[in-house]
Amino acid sequence: MPDFFDVVRSQRGIAHYKPDPLPEGAVERVIEAATRAPSGSNRQPWRFIVARDHETKRRLGELYVEGQRRSRGSAPPPRPADEPPHFSEAMADVPVVVMACVERWPITGGEAYRGASIYPAVQNLMLAAAAMGLGTRLTTIWQHCYDEVAELLGVPDGWEMMALIPMGYPQDPDHLGGSRRKPVAEITYYDRWGNAEA
Ligand SMILES: Cc1cc2nc3c(=O)[nH]c(=O)nc-3n(C[C@H](O)[C@H](O)[C@H](O)COP(=O)(O)O)c2cc1C
Repeated sequence: MPDFFDVVRSQRGIAHYKPDPLPEGAVERVIEAATRAPSGSNRQPWRFIVARDHETKRRLGELYVEGQRRSRGSAPPPRPADEPPHFSEAMADVPVVVMACVERWPITGGEAYRGASIYPAVQNLMLAAAAMGLGTRLTTIWQHCYDEVAELLGVPDGWEMMALIPMGYPQDPDHLGGSRRKPVAEITYYDRWGNAEA
């Protein structure tokens, strides 16, 4: 069992994946970890669509790239020849791609309340994957093609797609870890905003 803090430190957004299949039960294990997350009133308003089908993943990749194009207003810059294909271009070969959805129930707490009822679960899923040596990445840019993705995955009214997460072994295992983050002392205040004295 890896140390929890090592797992947290190793988890990061992975851009390149091996096509190798996942171990038996790995998907259900990370989703079970996801369901241990908190949600408003413990509604557990989540559904996880696990895309395994080659054609579905290929189309998701296409819509992801189109989402990038729409968000930038232009095509993404060409990839350097020595760089392996980014997961968006090779999504059909990523073993699984998980779409995390949340129920659109009437809320008084605002949009943040709904997001706060799915993103902890997404983070649990990504941490559980990292604990198994698997890479993931939380992505949202495909939302620029929201309707096309909803149709592709058959997501009904009343549910909202919140994060698309590729999952597989990183092409370079060293990429698990090494994330750059601001130091704790820079982002922590005591008792009152701006007081950095511990
Ligand atoms: C709200 C949100 C949206 C994101 N959308 C995308 C995305 O569409 N595509 C992508 O490749 N990464 C996306 N990311 C991943 C971030 O780019 C990544 O977490 C950040 O760069 C830190 O990377 P690291 O964990 O590898 O250090 C998103 C992350 C968050 C929290």
